[in-house]
Amino acid sequence: MDKFDKEANYIKIEAILFSLISKRDALVSSLANFVAVLKSQFDFFWVGFYLVDDNKLVLGPFQGPLACTEIKFGKGVCGSAWSECKTIVVGDVHQFPGHIACSSETNSEIVLPVINAEGKVVAVLDIDSITFNDFDAVDQKYLEKLLKWFASQVY
Ligand code: SME
Repeated sequence: MDKFDKEANYIKIEAILFSLISKRDALVSSLANFVAVLKSQFDFFWVGFYLVDDNKLVLGPFQGPLACTEIKFGKGVCGSAWSECKTIVVGDVHQFPGHIACSSETNSEIVLPVINAEGKVVAVLDIDSITFNDFDAVDQKYLEKLLKWFASQVY
C-alpha cells in the first residue's frame, strides 16, 4: 500500500472509530471493536491488545492466529514498548533481541503503548505483518493519534 492510500485508509478508520466508540461502552467492547476495525480495513496478519495486569501483560481482544497469553515487563517487543513507554517499530523481528514469536509467519511489527490520563501505560497495541518493513512513520503517526484519543474515551 502506498503512502497516500495508507493515509487515506487511516483517515477513514478515524472516522469509523470516532462514530463507533464512546465512553458509554464497556472497556472490553471498545478494545474488541478497535481491533476489528483495524483488521478489517487493513487486513493486518495479527492485531490486538495486551493489557497491563500487575507486573505482566495479558492477552486482550485480538484478531488473527492464536497468541501467547502473558508477556513480562520489558520482555519482547510488547514488554519493551511498555517499559520504555514508547512506540517500537521493528522492520525484521528476527533481528530484535528477545522477540517473542507467537507465529513463525510474522516478519515485522509495530507496538504502541496506550497511556492513561495519569501518564501510565495501561495496555499496548501490537500489529504484526508477514511482510518485512511493513510499518513506517505514517503508521506510527496515525496509530499514536488514534490511541491517544482512544485512551481518553475508554480509560
Ligand atoms: N511479538 C510480540 C509478542 C506478541 S505476538 O506477536 C502476538 C513480542 O515480541 O512482544
